[in-house]
Order: sequence, then C-alpha cells, then structure tokens
Amino acid sequence: MERALARCARAGATRVTLEVIAGNAAAVRLYERLGFQITRRLVGYRWEGDARADGRPAQSGPVEIDPVRFARDVAAGLAGADEPPWQLAPETLAAAVPPRRAYALGPASALVTVGETTAALTAVHTAPSRRRQGHARALLAGLRDALPGRSWTVTPVVPEAAGAEFFAATGWVREELAQYEMVRTADRRSAGFPTF
Ligand SMILES: CC(C)(COP(=O)(O)OP(=O)(O)OC[C@H]1O[C@@H](n2cnc3c(N)ncnc32)[C@H](O)[C@@H]1OP(=O)(O)O)[C@@H](O)C(=O)NCCC(=O)NCCS
Repeated sequence: MERALARCARAGATRVTLEVIAGNAAAVRLYERLGFQITRRLVGYRWEGDARADGRPAQSGPVEIDPVRFARDVAAGLAGADEPPWQLAPETLAAAVPPRRAYALGPASALVTVGETTAALTAVHTAPSRRRQGHARALLAGLRDALPGRSWTVTPVVPEAAGAEFFAATGWVREELAQYEMVRTADRRSAGFPTF
C-alpha cells in the first residue's frame, strides 16, 4: 500500500480514493493510519416490490441508448450537486460496455448490468426539470417487464442520501452491505508515510 501511494505521488496525484466494506474495521484502521479519511457511506438496494403496484401499464417501453447519452444526461444534472463517487462519474458511465447497457424512457435513463438471472442497476437519472412526475418509476417498471425473471439490485456505490426517498418509495430495500469511501489528500497525509 505504501508503495502504491508513493507511486501515485510520483505520478502527480493530489488525491487518492478507495472503497472498503464498512464492516471491515481492521482495514478501515489501516487506511486511516495511512492518512485516509472516511468521506461518505455508499449503499446498495435490492428490489422487493410488487410489479403490479407500479401504477402502470405504460404506453411504451424503455429503449436501449448509447451509454454516452446516459453519461451526458447525468453530467447535465450535476450542477450544484455533490461530486459523485468515481463509479457514478460521467466519464466512468460513458465508458460502459456490455453487459452494462443504458436505457431510457422519456426523460429518465438508467445503466444496468444485465445477467441471465440478475440485473444490477448502477444508476438511474431523470432530467432535473422533469422530476417527481413518475418517470424514473415508469422506467424501472418497464425495465423489469423487458428483462423478466431477474433479481434486481442496485450496486452499493450510491451515496447514502442520493435517491434514498425514491428507492424507498418504489419497492427497494437497503442492503446491509455498505462501503465507506475513503479519501487521502495532499494536505491530510499522516506523518511518516509517502507524501504527495
Ligand atoms: C432519484 C431520481 C432518479 C428520481 O427520479 P424521478 O423521475 O423524479 O422519480 P419519480 O417521479 O418516478 O418518483 C417516484 C417516487 O419516488 C419518491 N421520490 C422521488 N424523488 C423524491 C424526492 N426528491 N424526495 C422525496 N421523494 C422522492 C416519491 O415518492 C415519488 O412519488 P411521488 O412523486 O408520487 O410522491 C431523480 O431525483 C434523480 O435523477 N436524481 C439525481 C440522480 C440520483 O440521485 N439517482 C439515484 C442514485 S443512482
């Protein structure tokens, strides 16, 4: 780890980010000793709702779109929002390749890793001016119809506060497994370890 940090420093990094399973106290202590600080908790969800309770049928279904369009939608909605974790940053989303696929229904879009029996939602987004009109709910309900027979989860990379009310209101249950995002910056290094 020290060698890795020294390498980052030599490469000119001023900030190093990592994720650690929140229950792994020994690892958290190790990273704290290396100068990392917990910045936020990242959570995931599993879908336990009842498809019939979604208030549809919708007039049309989701369409597959280029992940770059999804990334652009997310980037456009970020003004004034907290910086997303790197997994949800537009540049990461834009690089998605199958089995990760992007879908849209109206102003809502989502990125999903589609397996044979699983579907893992990385992110869902609705254009800011069109929120609270049922678009994200309809998109996810449409995706469950289009990709049937799968268990649905949200990958545990979502900042605790982001979308919490939406997930709770649309049949998702928070998973126990959570991660801490930890950051080490040039001005928060601990004595005796590789410096930036
Ligand atoms: C989270 C998000 C996708 C919701 O999209 P949306 O299209 O506005 O959601 P819906 O209109 O389908 O909402 C369905 C229900 O969720 C709940 N809900 C959604 N947004 C909410 C909010 N900001 N506050 C409280 N409840 C909310 C409501 O119960 C809503 O039903 P109602 O409007 O009839 O009360 C949207 O706010 C967004 O893009 N946020 C930024 C990206 C993000 O945080 N994504 C989630 C993590 S990846």
